[in-house]
Amino acid sequence: MGKKALFLLGLLALSAVWVNGSENFEEDGEAAESLVSDVLTLDVGNFTETIEKYDFIVVEFYAPWCGHCKRLAPEYEKAATILKNNDPPIILAKVDLDDEYNKPLASEFNIAGFPTLKIIKNKGQLIQDYSGPRESDGIVSHLQKLSGPPSVELKSAEEAEKFLADNEKNLVVIGVFDKLEGEEYESFFKVADALRSDYEFAHTASSSIVPEDGVPVTAPSVRVIKNFEEKITVSSDLSTAALSKFIEETSLPSVTEMSKKPEHRPALMKFFESTKTKLFLFMAKSTEEDAESKDLLTKFTAVAKANKDSGLIALFAESDESDNALQFFGLEKADAPAVVIQEDKGKKYILKNVVSSKVAPWVAAYLKGELKEHIKSEPIPETNDEPVKVIVSSTLQTEVLDAKKNVLLEFYAPWCGHCKKLAPVLDEVAVSFEKDDDVVIAKFDATANDVSSDLFDVQGFPTIYLYTAGGAAIPYDGDRSKEDITKFINDNRTKPEVEEKKGSTIGDATSPAETLEEAVDAVDMTIVKDEL
Ligand SMILES: *[C@@H]1O[C@H](CO)[C@@H](O)[C@H](O)[C@H]1NC(C)=O
Ligand SMILES: *[C@@H]1O[C@H](CO)[C@@H](O)[C@H](O)[C@H]1NC(C)=O
Repeated sequence: MGKKALFLLGLLALSAVWVNGSENFEEDGEAAESLVSDVLTLDVGNFTETIEKYDFIVVEFYAPWCGHCKRLAPEYEKAATILKNNDPPIILAKVDLDDEYNKPLASEFNIAGFPTLKIIKNKGQLIQDYSGPRESDGIVSHLQKLSGPPSVELKSAEEAEKFLADNEKNLVVIGVFDKLEGEEYESFFKVADALRSDYEFAHTASSSIVPEDGVPVTAPSVRVIKNFEEKITVSSDLSTAALSKFIEETSLPSVTEMSKKPEHRPALMKFFESTKTKLFLFMAKSTEEDAESKDLLTKFTAVAKANKDSGLIALFAESDESDNALQFFGLEKADAPAVVIQEDKGKKYILKNVVSSKVAPWVAAYLKGELKEHIKSEPIPETNDEPVKVIVSSTLQTEVLDAKKNVLLEFYAPWCGHCKKLAPVLDEVAVSFEKDDDVVIAKFDATANDVSSDLFDVQGFPTIYLYTAGGAAIPYDGDRSKEDITKFINDNRTKPEVEEKKGSTIGDATSPAETLEEAVDAVDMTIVKDEL
């Protein structure tokens, strides 16, 4: 699970930074408390009883140290005061997930960053993500819309025209029926209620009032109208499952564009939440006269369209505005234009400095299984003479797995506070073993290097393993003190000539996460365990 969990951790962090403006790891100062508040404070003890009281409640999961949460707080407060007098009332609440006591809620709601807002409807029956605006007016109007009817009825050609004009920039879904009742009509409403935050839904019983725009209007049917690619797509399979699938799939563009504009957010959320294999193009801002970059984008789009059915989804990002993403893939600006394929399980494939003619053959080679997986590694350090040795991805095999020594290996992240606290302790341990040829103390920056072995299940930082001379990977969960770590090494070390494998101590480290949910749980645990 290690590789995938880490990938997701990174990708969630990435999408959090890109899409949500939420943050996972930073710490910056203290919370400001206000005295009287229209925002309900919930904790794990009264969470369920509270949400069961309301038809429409929004819960913000936050941490007192999170900067985006602090910026949201006054806006959220203002919105709460307005919305409690809405008809019907809309309740805003918050849960402090930094409080140990509330952490069960983090895994229950798959919280991977702060702040995360969830809309909980029908007394807890329906849970949706809030991906709307973050300032008070926007919050109020967005939530008012979400608490009203999920779909508006269009009664005349004028109403239909106005509805389409008002929602020119949105994804529009129109249900066309013979009569406003029956199974299909109900299933349309169910889907509208579930998907309403990303789309504008309308319905009518008069097919003649809906503009054709080149696509005949039949009843019953559902048309999705968007401002890219085929502008109108129609489905007449109106069962709930088929309808939501149709709406979600037809509204994802062949190439999603990385952008901070609010109207791009739903598509980006969908892109990052998808379990499909992702194809990225990073390219510097192209100028009008730059024929090659135009051509590259055209060819990339064509490849994306042609491979939609092979399960690829594509995204284009300007390399100048994608520092986090480039770093995540171990790329430099000078590597752009670059094409990256990232599988849901974490494997990645990279083509740097790509020219337009190479995109299609490269993706074809990937689909045939002919590409070599890209393993991100820092360069091998030129000197490595500190007591704690530096291991990078490309030295993991030689200096740890094949070393026939007892290697205590710390997987760390540069931003992780617990790792910083552990560093001087590991130093002391390393100094005390310096004369012992069979023991090595080492560290591995798992943000700059892929953990290219399934023996290590790295789900949080720091993760510590003893890889024994006999070839067993034993995780360390004890106290992070010199005494306990030293005792652990001495109790578990084996002699180099002992070849037998103690596979059982590895636990479930070798069983990969099969589902996204599982991996996301792992990610949540990571964050909850170590940095929230
Ligand atoms: C839930 O419990 C906490 C802690 O006891 C309390 O501060 C908060 O006001 C309660 N919230 C509600 C809505 O009862
Ligand atoms: C490994 O070390 C721990 C802590 O000192 C000890 O409790 C455990 O029994 C050791 N395991 C083996 C297999 O010796």
